[in-house]
Order: sequence, then structure tokens, then C-alpha cells
Amino acid sequence: MRDKVTIPAIQARKHGPKITMVTAYDAPGAKIVDEALIDIILVGDSVATTVLGFEDTLSVTVDMMIHHSAAVTRARPAALVVTDMPWLSYHVSPEESVRNAGRLVREGGAGAVKLEGGRKRIATVKAILDAEIPVMGHLGLTPQSIHTMGGYRVQGKTVVAARDLLADAHALADAGIFALVLEGIPDTLAQLVTRELSIPTIGIGAGIHCDGQVLVFHDVLGMQNQKMPKFVRQYAHLADSATQALQQYGADVQSGAFPDDSESYHLDKNVLELLLDTQKQGLD
Ligand code: KIV
Repeated sequence: MRDKVTIPAIQARKHGPKITMVTAYDAPGAKIVDEALIDIILVGDSVATTVLGFEDTLSVTVDMMIHHSAAVTRARPAALVVTDMPWLSYHVSPEESVRNAGRLVREGGAGAVKLEGGRKRIATVKAILDAEIPVMGHLGLTPQSIHTMGGYRVQGKTVVAARDLLADAHALADAGIFALVLEGIPDTLAQLVTRELSIPTIGIGAGIHCDGQVLVFHDVLGMQNQKMPKFVRQYAHLADSATQALQQYGADVQSGAFPDDSESYHLDKNVLELLLDTQKQGLD
């Protein structure tokens, strides 16, 4: 068993080895990720689209995030568990944000929370940190801003947008976040942010220069047969294997090949004889 991954341990990885992060939304998923020695399990609000069948992440509530986070932490992973604060759980007031972050820790077992946005969120980030809850930032393509962005588009492509993102990154780092997710931005901008910040950056669709990488469980394992963004590398095609396995199961049930003798329970021979005898007497 490896040692529990802690916030200081993640911070100490700024200059390598690279940090690995993968999402998980339930106990078996958390066990798989943990056994692969991934550093951080992100209970992402991507649960909305990957597991719950929503169109985007905006429908996820704090109660849903607690439900999935608690399932992940019941697997007792050594990986650090970071849980996403869902949309509108940290936008109304710093007080309400602290209460919601506290529920993710107390009821969901999270070791840290992640929230999207930069300078607009500094008061909130500071309030959550004041409550001794570590915060991971998230800049660039922030899915909770889908309507403002006009869809899922690469961010930070103009000088103004890149400068804005750099200013947001510095503000978050100065406020005290322990790591920063950079999603859907040009690799050279991610390189600049990574070089300028003393905290680790974790990229998704942000190129090679980040201090770590994150991918979604269902994407990296090919659990859904759908078109993937170009930054996703699929290391398995589990949806295909699962469909093939279930087709075989269906065929075996139809042909009588399943279950076989070794897959069935048997009555003790004496019990069977006695049972058949009493049945027979009952009929006589
Ligand atoms: O919810 C999520 O899965 C995320 C990652 C894409 C970083 O926020």
C-alpha cells in the first residue's frame, strides 16, 4: 500500500515527477484509478455528462456531488480526492460557498475542492481557504461558463485573453490555491503560466508543458462510443469489449451454454433422494 497523497506532496511536485489526475465517480472507479497509482482522483462535475446523462455540467447539485464523492472516498483511496464545487454553489456569497465546500469535505470526504474562475472568485477562494479547505483552481475552458463562452471553445487565443488568463492565474496563486487546472488553452500559454507560477499546473487540452495531466475516466478508458476531443488519448476501448461480452452472455443464455454445472448450486445427494421420496409419497 502506498502512502496517502497529501496537499504538500502535490505541491512538492512542481519540478517533477509529473502529477497524474483522473476523474472517478464511484467506488469501483476509485479503486481502479487508485490501483493504477494515479496521484489525484477528481470527483468532477463531468459526472453530469459522463454518468448522469445531462447535456452539460450545469444541472449538477451539491447533493449529487456529495453522493458521488462519498462513494469514491468509501473506497479509501491513497490518492488525494478533490471534489468539484458545482455551478452556483460558490457564486452567491463567500459564506454560502464555505458552507457548500464544508459539506463536500464533511459529507463527501473530499480532501480539497476545485472551483472554476479567476479574479472574480478571489474573495470566495480566500474564504474557503480560511476554513482550512484546500482549493484547486480551474482556468481556460471552464465548462460551467458554457453559455458565456458560446460553447466549448479553446480559450486564451488572443493577446488580451492570454493576458487575462495570466492575471487570473497569478491572482489565484497569490490567494493560496495549491494547484491549478488549465483546460483547453494553447500549449505555449500553458507553458508561460506553468513557468510563472510556483504552484503546479495540471493540464487537459493544454499541451505538454504543464506540471501534470488530467483526463476523464470514461474518455481515457473508451467507455463511451462517441467522438472525443483531440486532446483525449484513449488507452482502452472498454465500451466495445463490454458490448461484445454482453452479446456473448445473451447468446450463451439463448443456447443453454450458461449457466453450466460449475456455475450452479447442488443439493446434497441424500437430501435430494429424501426430497424425491417425500414428493413421490405425496403423489401416491
Ligand atoms: O469535471 C471534470 O472532469 C473536470 C476536468 C475536466 C478537469 O473539471
